[in-house]
Amino acid sequence: MIKVSFAASRPEGAYALAVPVRSEEMVADRLGGLEGNARNLAARAADAQGFEREAGAIAETFVEDQGVVRRLLLVGLGGQRDADALYEKAGGALTARLLTSGETKLVVDLGGTDIRAEEAARLAFGAAARSWRYDQYRTKLGRKQKPTLEEIVIVGSSDAEWGHAAALLEGLDLTRSLVTEPANIIYPETFVARARDALESLGVEFEVLDEKKMAELGMGALLGVAQGSVRPPRLLAMRWNGGKVGGKPAVFVGKGITFDTGGISIKPALGMESMKWDMGGAGAVAGLMKAVAARKAKVNVVGVCALAENMPDGNAQRPGDVVTSLSGQTIEVINTDAEGRLVLADAMTWAQRQYQPAVMVDLATLTGAMVISLGHEYGGMFSNDDELAAKLEAAGKASGDRLWRLPMGDEYNKIMDSQIADMKNSASREGGSITAACFLQRFVEEGVKWAHLDIAGMAWSDKTSHLYDKGATGYGVALLDRYLADNHEG
Ligand code: BES
Ligand code: MN
Ligand code: ZN
Repeated sequence: MIKVSFAASRPEGAYALAVPVRSEEMVADRLGGLEGNARNLAARAADAQGFEREAGAIAETFVEDQGVVRRLLLVGLGGQRDADALYEKAGGALTARLLTSGETKLVVDLGGTDIRAEEAARLAFGAAARSWRYDQYRTKLGRKQKPTLEEIVIVGSSDAEWGHAAALLEGLDLTRSLVTEPANIIYPETFVARARDALESLGVEFEVLDEKKMAELGMGALLGVAQGSVRPPRLLAMRWNGGKVGGKPAVFVGKGITFDTGGISIKPALGMESMKWDMGGAGAVAGLMKAVAARKAKVNVVGVCALAENMPDGNAQRPGDVVTSLSGQTIEVINTDAEGRLVLADAMTWAQRQYQPAVMVDLATLTGAMVISLGHEYGGMFSNDDELAAKLEAAGKASGDRLWRLPMGDEYNKIMDSQIADMKNSASREGGSITAACFLQRFVEEGVKWAHLDIAGMAWSDKTSHLYDKGATGYGVALLDRYLADNHEG
């Protein structure tokens, strides 16, 4: 990712210069730092390119400035100051344009604008987030495909709000890396190792349960999923104690299926490779821990990741098997591809008994049905508590990681009853995301405020956005960081 810094005035030397312009402003009026000739040329060029200063629009030209030929980017801010993600969009648009342009440095001149410190931080955040790439395995990138942009300097604004955004970027980076890595690289044990590398030095405490310990405790649901894989499962708990001593933590539980073949209920070949990111919930939880630890948040947080690989094998569980969960409830495994809820069930029970959470939020790429109902614009939210749901929704709106609440209820819940056991793990396709949430709710203990976020449509993107290139989005990190900052700190 590109490096971000703040400076009082424009540096000398080679760099591209960016100037934001609102729709009601004249381009020439915003170019006070340029000489008259250059200013006229730039205004004319912007006009000729049809630049109407729409949010995220860019006009590009070259001008003579400080005795060098400089690339100048005018970036639109539109007409609505509080438009969602306006500044992130502007920053991201600049990076998208310059990332492989040959420019190594970008100076964004906010001098003479009314842009506040928080907005400047958001612009820089957008620019940095959009620059994220994972080129480790691309050994033959051509000269014009390689990123050149290394740093961005924000001029004419305070860096007072940058610290929080910088920490969030570190979390986003961790999440995206974990989600991007293929399943031969990231499996339960290596997920734990990467998380340790990223978090232990920041003061995050680790507890890891291996398969022996889980068997001893009776986590039959999680172990049933893992038993078809040669990669042993792990239950990872990460704890950040930044809040009051003894204060109940906010607990986040992530689905961490490092690869989901479907098991014996095997998935079709087409597109199965995407199931390497079936650990997107766990990835978001790890990234969240990084974000809160990096900014030393005054909050008690626990992140729990249910890590396993779902494979078909001579030892794999079969459709019809009955497993006993840690809660004591029995589950008929109708479909081995409904594995996320099985690993989450045991992880949630363990987390509640271990930590007595103030709130518990789970994140999971849980159902294909979620993608059908909400597409790739909103994560699905299910909750047993209206206040918690409202707070998460607000954090979603503020962070750009949007959430849409769906219903639950007895009628849906009873669909999950089984003939032979306390419940089954899969029923008909109708309302599949809702019945999955009802299954999970059976593992929520008395009095615990809980929300389930089905992020199946959000963890990965096949198209670029203002904050990311194609691939891992990091969805959930900004959402939960915002939720904690607004509701559990101070
Ligand atoms: N990991 C999948 C859900 C998924 C599908 C996430 C597509 C992202 C994109 C999950 O484990 C799964 O296979 N769910 C099944 C549940 C069904 C068998 C009840 C599904 O959605 O088909
Ligand atoms: Mn599955
Ligand atoms: Zn899955």
